[in-house]
Amino acid sequence: MNSPVRAFKAVHQLPMVAAYGVADQIFDVDDNAYIDYCGSWGALIHGHAHPAILNAVQKRISLGTSFGITTSIEGELAKKVIELIPSIEKIRFVSSGTEATMSAVRLARGFTGKDIIIKFSGNYHGHADFFLIKAGSAVLELAQSSSAGIPADIVKHSVSLPYNDIELCRSILNDIQFRDRIAAVIVEPVAGNMGVVPATLPFLKMLREETLRMGSLLIFDEVITGFRVGLGGAQELYGITPDLTCLGKIIGGGFPAAAFGGREAIMNCLAPLGAVFQAGTLSGNPVAMEAGLQALHLIQEPNFYRELERKTEIITRPVKEYLLKNRIDACIQQVGSMFTLFFGSTRVSDLESAQKLNLERFAQFFRYLFERGVYIPPAQHEAWFVSNVHTEAHLEKTRDTILDFLRL
Ligand SMILES: Cc1ncc(COP(=O)(O)O)c(C=O)c1O
Repeated sequence: MNSPVRAFKAVHQLPMVAAYGVADQIFDVDDNAYIDYCGSWGALIHGHAHPAILNAVQKRISLGTSFGITTSIEGELAKKVIELIPSIEKIRFVSSGTEATMSAVRLARGFTGKDIIIKFSGNYHGHADFFLIKAGSAVLELAQSSSAGIPADIVKHSVSLPYNDIELCRSILNDIQFRDRIAAVIVEPVAGNMGVVPATLPFLKMLREETLRMGSLLIFDEVITGFRVGLGGAQELYGITPDLTCLGKIIGGGFPAAAFGGREAIMNCLAPLGAVFQAGTLSGNPVAMEAGLQALHLIQEPNFYRELERKTEIITRPVKEYLLKNRIDACIQQVGSMFTLFFGSTRVSDLESAQKLNLERFAQFFRYLFERGVYIPPAQHEAWFVSNVHTEAHLEKTRDTILDFLRL
């Protein structure tokens, strides 16, 4: 495995080995077909091997795959992102979400001259050392509060607070011990890494107010939500303007690309203009930029997000109704085309409630779906993603298979 959750440990079965993907399906090396709701962890909003992305990428590849020199396609994608997300006045491309969040935090520290970084338990921002404190995603699945191999001296500048807990967070942010030392608060505005757990609007408003008051930066980690929950991401949905935004997944159109960006005055602190160092051999790689640009063209088609949500609801609406009607101890939490079916709770609002879920029931559920040709993320604390190439027949088959399991 080149990333831990792919081991399928949480669902107690051997991992799948993928051979190829077509639209909304993955075919494994034994040629079994699966309707795919993982979508490369949210990157594939247009499904596998989308012809428009492939054609453009093939042309781009024939021009050379990497230069280590600026190419004009980087400017084109930058312009497109800035047009869609107005809080981003300047942007820098990197190759993974981890690089984006890690660099955004360094920039925030460089800009503010402060050290402490605040994150929220159950949010995942990639695997930089200073984030791996009570982090979500695979770290949560492995039931570790942090990773081995991280010096205590590094973690001591990070604080993890309970998600959605307005009063507690406000009081800690105002604690005399921290108040003047906080460089940034980083948050997933819709958490996707303990399953889908949206932040409440008052919680995000409080973070915006407090960071402004303290002279620290608010960083939205929109690696999942960027271009997923709407053209302008979660910040548009909630109407809150962060200082910096991290993007990944969809922005690379299925290739390794990510980005961070925000207010020009902050971004100008990056080298070469400023003193905060950040660099990458393959940053802004033209093939990945081309794929990302095509992906962003496609999401601008009329009614794209309305249609995506309509498709998602083919599954979620009847399942939600069934759960409620039959008083089953489970729930679906959904924002647009991302959702999670949680077993063992009717509401998950933070890491504490996410840790009380029925993981064995989820493992049975995963295997039931898998045996019937439906592939969902192989862990309870993950988001499912619907693409705009999911067919109604596949969505209906998925819905019926879920309902069959619930009726057992
Ligand atoms: C919200 C969020 N931030 C950051 C990351 C890290 O991105 P990457 O896996 O590309 O390093 C992820 C990955 O899933 C994520 O979901």
